[in-house]
Amino acid sequence: MLDCARSQEVIVAMSDLAQLESQILAQIAAAGDEAALEAVRVSALGKKGSISALLSTLGKMSPDERKTEGAKINSAKDTVTQALAARRDILKSAALDARLKSETIDVTLPLREAPAEQGRIHPLSQVFEEVNTIFADMGFAIAEGPDIETDDYNFTKLNFPEGHPAREMHDTFFFNPKEDGSRMLLRTHTSPVQVRTMLSQKPPIRIICPGRTYRIDSDATHTPQFHQVEGLVIDRSSHLGHLKWILHEFCKAFFEVDHINMRFRPSFFPFTEPSLEVDIQCRRDKGEIRFGEGEDWLEILGCGMVHPNVLRACGIDPDVYQGFAWGMGIDRIAMLKYGMSDLRQLFESDVRWLGHYGFKPLDLPTLAGGLSS
Ligand code: DAH
Repeated sequence: MLDCARSQEVIVAMSDLAQLESQILAQIAAAGDEAALEAVRVSALGKKGSISALLSTLGKMSPDERKTEGAKINSAKDTVTQALAARRDILKSAALDARLKSETIDVTLPLREAPAEQGRIHPLSQVFEEVNTIFADMGFAIAEGPDIETDDYNFTKLNFPEGHPAREMHDTFFFNPKEDGSRMLLRTHTSPVQVRTMLSQKPPIRIICPGRTYRIDSDATHTPQFHQVEGLVIDRSSHLGHLKWILHEFCKAFFEVDHINMRFRPSFFPFTEPSLEVDIQCRRDKGEIRFGEGEDWLEILGCGMVHPNVLRACGIDPDVYQGFAWGMGIDRIAMLKYGMSDLRQLFESDVRWLGHYGFKPLDLPTLAGGLSS
């Protein structure tokens, strides 16, 4: 009785086999990719799959039934397995075709720049490199000092007496006074590096000091933070003739011209005597500036013979040694050379501006290869 009921159940299931098979084959045909096909496989042949479930009923059948029904179920399983394999082949080659289509390479396209070459060197960094290259070629060493300075190095040792109006002209950023009353400040010029160098080295001295400087000032031609390069030469017989030659050679090399007219005007700085300001001749032509000749003069630096008081304050005997110094505005010469109109753009970090005015990272300035090309 029991046996008969069980066989009945199985045989009812068997009558659905053909339907089940065609259902699975339809699902296989409809599977759009290998993942969908795998899902169909699992639902039919996986542990809990529909065909596996039928196979597990074989154990409950009589040997005769098992023979005939088993053969049917196994043949359905084979049909499904083959259909799966056939569809997998089709999907695999379709996926490969699609990939090959999407990955075509047009070998005639121009080379795209590597990411490392897409960045640009800021024109100020470029100009620092150019200045260093020119002075290094003349035998100058590079000296450095801190941005946060003592009042003593920024002013007093440079012969600015306490309360002297020249101190006021520097529009200094001061820090709060310390307990002993002394005040640190953001250096207003690179000249304190002269002091540091003379205090730590014996003449002969031949250094430049490129660096950041700060003053409370802000408009189209002034920013609170700007850049200078200081120069200092100390030995027994250096004189103004040497200074003029150095600056002349520097300007020709920097502005990349064979000839340049320069004008040395008397001026005043507490740390030099005599003091001079230097202009270069130029011509403005339809928004462009040409250097070396023309009707206009542009001021680019201050200079002079180092004041004996400064030498003395730095432990150098002014009766034995003498020397000269200069301080040049880096932002100013960068703007002149590369035709920029507003100083503030140098500090805005605008990538479009940098893309236009910046320099390729691997094009290092050299005197032999050209500074800016
Ligand atoms: N320190 C001066 C300034 O910032 C520039 C200067 C002038 C530097 C004459 C010098 C010099 O070394 O000799 O205005």
